[in-house]
Amino acid sequence: MTKAILTIFSFSIASAGYAANVDSAKGDSRVIAHIGATPQFKDQIDPTTVTFRPNPALVALGRQVFFDPNLSEPRGTSCAGCHDPARAFSPTLNAQSRLVGTTQGSRPGHLSDRNAPSLLYVRYVPQRYFFQDDDDPYPSPFGGLFTDGRANDLAEQIRGPLFDANEMNNASPRSLLLKVKHTPIGQALSARFGQSVLNSPNLLVQRLGEVLAAYQQSDEMAPFSSRFDDYLRKRKPLTVQEMQGLAVFKNPDKGNCQSCHLLNDTSNRPERSLFTDFGYDAIAVPRNRALVANKNPQHFDNGLCKTAAQLHWPDPKQWCGYFRTPTLRNVAVRQSFMHNGVFKTLREAVAFYATRSTDPKHWYHGQQYFDDVPKAYRANININSTPLNRKVGLKPALSDTDIDDLVVFLRTLTDARYVSKMPSLKDQLVITP
Ligand code: HEC
Ligand code: HEC
Repeated sequence: MTKAILTIFSFSIASAGYAANVDSAKGDSRVIAHIGATPQFKDQIDPTTVTFRPNPALVALGRQVFFDPNLSEPRGTSCAGCHDPARAFSPTLNAQSRLVGTTQGSRPGHLSDRNAPSLLYVRYVPQRYFFQDDDDPYPSPFGGLFTDGRANDLAEQIRGPLFDANEMNNASPRSLLLKVKHTPIGQALSARFGQSVLNSPNLLVQRLGEVLAAYQQSDEMAPFSSRFDDYLRKRKPLTVQEMQGLAVFKNPDKGNCQSCHLLNDTSNRPERSLFTDFGYDAIAVPRNRALVANKNPQHFDNGLCKTAAQLHWPDPKQWCGYFRTPTLRNVAVRQSFMHNGVFKTLREAVAFYATRSTDPKHWYHGQQYFDDVPKAYRANININSTPLNRKVGLKPALSDTDIDDLVVFLRTLTDARYVSKMPSLKDQLVITP
């Protein structure tokens, strides 16, 4: 398969559309082509070099907007409705949505087709870029918001939930404007930005994006207060079992998790351990048959290739089945996992890596392999990375004990405020049929 040969120019962070912008072209020999609207970069982005100092007045306004239930149609669903501040800004699901694994929007019974991520640490997600490591045969995409990277920065991102019929369900920027004009948020925005913000629908959406981005860039949204952070800062050791889990996580012949979910435990700076490289991969999680869209057997959520086509990347189909690697910080408080919410326990999500390739029938409803990736794109699926690289019937790279240890380790990534939201260890280690 031919992968796009690209090049890499300058850098900025998705959450900071207006912040860092470092130029670094300098005649790179790999400079071959400039692709569509995709910014291209010379170096892999190092989030530790970016400082976030959003204007406190905008942060306060953004916080107010985030929790305001007046922005949905009908009213009642704020951003916090799906990104629950009591659950690390990931969803708390109601009885119905718990069965499905995705959030409910402003209208009862209307559920998202995708799982909502935690918004903690989202400020570190870079804008879309391509990077080619010296050992890589071709450049790979990184960054961009949403699991398919379709929004380049936080300000652009808000158009997603505001106008998605299964989320906040506004018909248009104009109807949103008419709705917020006479609310406290309308007043607060015009006090800050002038009356014009209440006369132009597009200006309103732009300002909402600006203040929501500021809020999500604030230190409030990147607490670094987990037990793992204490361990990095050499304040408190991990337990023996947690250390075993960390070792499995890092071991390239076992979990190999760190190859995508990056960490750096030789640095005492926790922002070096964001548990993602912001890259994309096709690990082929099972189809979530409870999703409404999936009642149609012809429907597939193909992830990044839709964005690639929209951005006119060459050969977009090579990215079908790819989804952005999420952070694993606070993963232990989640109620459903993966882009489609198919797994309901953390142990199941981890066990999938162990036996996807050795016992596929267990995962793919006893029949077809890779049942959520159309046949035409199955060649894209990652069958090379440990532990996904085994043959059917062979011994998995991870034992049951390794899986338990990984789960125990992942629980140390929970920020202090949310520890009480984790299921008990006993419940989290239950093996689901
Ligand atoms: C009805 C539920 C719902 C509401 C309300 C909602 N979101 Fe989301 N949010 C989601 C889902 C689902 C996704 C993942 C969608 C995808 O990847 O395609 C998401 C993704 C995001 C992301 C991308 C994070 C990442 O890592 O890529 C951000 C940022 C975000 N939401 C912020 C907001 C803001 C700000 C609001 C309020 C304006 C909001 N959301 C309202 C469900 C919701
Ligand atoms: C080849 C890259 C890669 C490797 C190796 C990898 N992951 Fe992932 N991980 C991903 C991607 C991509 C996703 C998102 C997949 C999706 O949403 O369909 C993901 C999702 C997850 C999730 C779900 C997170 C959430 O918020 O829903 C967990 C848990 C997880 N990985 C744990 C692990 C563990 C533990 C290991 C090691 C055993 C591991 N991963 C190895 C790429 C990888």
